[in-house]
Amino acid sequence: MACASMDRASAQQAIQTLREEINEHNHRYYVLNDPTVSDQTYDKKLRQLEALEAAFPDLVTATSPTQRVGAKLSDGFATVEHEVPMLSLANAFDTDEVKQWYQRLENQLGRADIPLVAEAKLDGLAVALVYVDGQLVQAATRGDGTQGEDVTGNVKTIRSIPLTLRGASVPARLEVRGEVVMTHSGFQALNQTLGEAGAKLFVNPRNAASGSLRQLDPAITADRPLQFFAYGAVFDDAPVKTQSALYAWLRALGIPTGEKKEVLDGVEGLLAVHQAFLDQRAQLDYDIDGVVYKVDSLTDQQQLGHVSRAPRWALAHKFPAQEEITELLGIDVQVGRTGALTPVARLQPVFVGGVTVTNATLHNADEIHRKDIRIGDRVVVRRAGDVIPEIVRSVSAPDRPRAERWTMPSHCPACGSAVEFTEDQAVARCSGGLVCPAQRKRALAHFVSRGAMDIEGLGSQVIDQLVEAGLVETPADFYRLTVDQLIELERFGQKSAKNLIAAINASRSVNLDRLLFALGIREVGQVTAKALARHFKSLDALASADAETLEEIDDVGPIMAAHIEAFFQEPHNQGVIDELLALGVSPQVPETPTETPLTGLSFVVTGRLSSMSRDQVKAALEALGAKVTGSVSSKTSALVAGDDAGSKYDKATELGVRILNEEALKALLNNPSGFAVE
Ligand code: IVH
Repeated sequence: MACASMDRASAQQAIQTLREEINEHNHRYYVLNDPTVSDQTYDKKLRQLEALEAAFPDLVTATSPTQRVGAKLSDGFATVEHEVPMLSLANAFDTDEVKQWYQRLENQLGRADIPLVAEAKLDGLAVALVYVDGQLVQAATRGDGTQGEDVTGNVKTIRSIPLTLRGASVPARLEVRGEVVMTHSGFQALNQTLGEAGAKLFVNPRNAASGSLRQLDPAITADRPLQFFAYGAVFDDAPVKTQSALYAWLRALGIPTGEKKEVLDGVEGLLAVHQAFLDQRAQLDYDIDGVVYKVDSLTDQQQLGHVSRAPRWALAHKFPAQEEITELLGIDVQVGRTGALTPVARLQPVFVGGVTVTNATLHNADEIHRKDIRIGDRVVVRRAGDVIPEIVRSVSAPDRPRAERWTMPSHCPACGSAVEFTEDQAVARCSGGLVCPAQRKRALAHFVSRGAMDIEGLGSQVIDQLVEAGLVETPADFYRLTVDQLIELERFGQKSAKNLIAAINASRSVNLDRLLFALGIREVGQVTAKALARHFKSLDALASADAETLEEIDDVGPIMAAHIEAFFQEPHNQGVIDELLALGVSPQVPETPTETPLTGLSFVVTGRLSSMSRDQVKAALEALGAKVTGSVSSKTSALVAGDDAGSKYDKATELGVRILNEEALKALLNNPSGFAVE
């Protein structure tokens, strides 16, 4: 834009147009949430205006959209007298208090069915905005109600507050009153940034909003996500006769008011609106701590007047607080169905979010350390909506003697088995899968399931019954059950009891891989169980293998190896295995598996192998179902050839028979199902 070449009159005209356009876009974006131009278009117009104002500095006004962050660093806030005091509100904490208030209104006004307005009680800080001839000239905090602080420069940075009022009915003087709040998302982002910079965090969005408005540098305030909602006004010539009409008028002037609801059916209506706002609370991006009821007629309001510092015509019906402070009495550890250990805070009972809270989740040890929460601390407990109560932070005085840092126990509080930790220590888990009462029902159900011991008739309902009757604690106990015990139980007859015992008996001669899978070792699925059974051939051999040996098996990585090792090192688990064996469970290792990947194939072995004898190779291949013959023919599936292989090698080459060297042989033995006939 050729500003320099423009004459003053045209510049003034262009500036005027740009300001109107920018204000309009601003209103659509920040108040109506309904922008009609892109951010780039908006920025471009703002830059054009800046350029024009730079060329004609005397045309700059205090309320030009370029002046939102224009104010200089302040060296303190001037005091502002409120011509009309900023009152506070009477509170009601229950339905009875609301009924009494409404009854008093009817008595004082001498009639029933009083029209009311209901709106959110915002949890921020009150400010008064003074507009003279439609221009924002002053913004002040509430202070003590009669004197506040001049925070004009900071308030001008809040985008939803118009610097210039819109529309035709702009009054000579208008004082708009309302609440400045900070959004939750903005609050979290702000605390994150402050935390990273090592600065002190804000306790809640209200304190953050207040701290942000009282910044000496408006550039800092400009970066804080503040919002404004009007809830009242002071004006001379009343163009409106009701509170609801006042809100409509304020909106027409471009001022955000938030949601206001007219209530025409007395207490019932108020309570319904209260519930509706309470239901909405969790979805709002800012804190509300109740609903404010106001008599709609301004004449009625005047007639009712106020007592001490609160108007009789308004009432704040509070929500239960979502955060309270209490003492952390101890930290218990809960064991989940999968063995995961979760620390749980034991609290001095406290009423928060509408219920008495005695426990709160602490997630994991990491979380406790990150928040530096220690037993004996005073802590902030939060319960929002139906969310599980949680400890937000510790607020113990830093000079108070404090307990040691908390650590996760090394043994499971439910069964005494050793606790396993993930490498980053974030997750702790009980390793006593077979004995831990917390994991019992789940472990038992897995033990008998289809791919495991496959005992028919042991559904989860029956398992629940058996556990609750004290008949089964560990898998070994299944093998102690008798028909007589079973028929005592509900829904069991002679026949079903006999069938179940027969099914249990039949499972005693299970294949080793199924038993391994049934034990429920973490990460060990059916495929791994098969590989382990094939490799170790006995429970004993597997139980005494160390992690290094385990890792030699294909598919067994370091994490799984560690789980297997931990499982067998846990004496409780070993005890159950010993019992199972003593009770006649005898895992089978089929010498020649009936159905194996190599059934129907024929091999020839020749030459010298470095790690196995030819007989060993022969046995291994046969164990997998293959036939091993002495001479190569066109029917030979493959020739295993070591060093110095002679005529058989030549014959195989001639016939195009596949040749496996020692490495290929090992791969085949490790993963026979991967062997493809070419
Ligand atoms: S009306 C004449 N309406 O609550 C009554 N106040 O406890 C003056 N507040 O200082 C206030 N939301 O900061 C009113 N919708 C609302 C409000 C509200 C929050 C705050 C306000 C006031 C305090 C009184």
